[in-house]
Amino acid sequence: MINGTGAKIIGTGHALPEKVLTNADLEKIVDTTDSWIVERTGIRERHVAEAGTPVSEFATEAARQALEQAGVEAKEVDLIIVGTVTGDMKFPATACLVQAKLEAKNAVAFDLSAACSGFLYSLQVASALMRTNSYRRVLVIGAEVLTSMINWQDRDTCILFGDGAGAALLAPAEGQTGLIHSRLGSDGRQTDLLYNPGGGSLHPANLEPVAPDFPTIRMEGREVFRHAVTAMTKVLKQVLEEAEVSAEEINLLIPHQANLRIIEAVGKRFGIDKEKVYVNVDRFGNTSAASIPIALDEGRRSGRIKEGDLVAMVTFGAGLTWAAALHKF
Ligand code: ACO
Repeated sequence: MINGTGAKIIGTGHALPEKVLTNADLEKIVDTTDSWIVERTGIRERHVAEAGTPVSEFATEAARQALEQAGVEAKEVDLIIVGTVTGDMKFPATACLVQAKLEAKNAVAFDLSAACSGFLYSLQVASALMRTNSYRRVLVIGAEVLTSMINWQDRDTCILFGDGAGAALLAPAEGQTGLIHSRLGSDGRQTDLLYNPGGGSLHPANLEPVAPDFPTIRMEGREVFRHAVTAMTKVLKQVLEEAEVSAEEINLLIPHQANLRIIEAVGKRFGIDKEKVYVNVDRFGNTSAASIPIALDEGRRSGRIKEGDLVAMVTFGAGLTWAAALHKF
């Protein structure tokens, strides 16, 4: 195994809205059925925020839990990165709002936009900044209120997404532990497969009235599915090869929780036992940048991830963007 990047996860946390929206609830809103949703996506229910709840609320709660678990005080945090595409406002960065709520007054704070890849992108950026700027306590948060950009009349998309946040606290690694290796990828030629046109400089809200359905998600589901399986499998294999680790050595694979069929296809092509693949998409739907850190925290708190375990993470999202990372706890 190659030498790690020097950053290790020492605390995790996650937060979800209380309200649960089941497939049966969705049957009353759009022309869909529980059996269609379960068969095509594996999703049974998702947590949804009350309209107007800021994403910083969930991000802050997840970060608080990560700090508490590691026994680290907010004032010790040097850097906060929030991976999100559903920030509280266009600006300031949600990371600055989280900094204020945590009273992490010594931290540098910024957001990172990579859609569902937001957490793994932030993890790699954080580990690089820890090396160059000597940061010692870093919060990496994936947080989304994706339901704030859902068109509830569009059955192709509204059944897929949920809200929540997950956080990881990083510290310098000791020995051969921590983030071993990580790779990111992007393909800007495929932006039209998954995007939200509303509210930006392309359709300025101050000059032209924004059509009611503008600030919502547009998606070519079948194409996204195809690209997701190919890119996730490829980047995962690349990370393992470069790290000189075999699939058998992985204790747990945490794939982005978008669709059970994508998760199963990636697991099969990668050649890993089904029992070693983490799944919670049935309970949370696709929470975008929050999905991997939520799973990480669940895994650590339930004992599924133990000290010494080698955990692989892989994701895919709008952009297109994708990423994989290998972490030894
Ligand atoms: N309920 C019932 N029927 C539906 C629904 C629904 N909710 N949605 C679509 N259908 C119908 C379609 O109209 C179509 O009907 P037709 O055959 O009469 O034309 C039929 O079901 C099949 O539709 P497909 O789109 O081919 O279904 P597919 O098996 O591809 O599943 C899905 C659709 C679930 C969207 C799948 O393509 C998928 O998961 N894609 C990936 C999406 C994703 O993960 N996006 C997020 C990426 S990450 C990020 O950055 C946010």
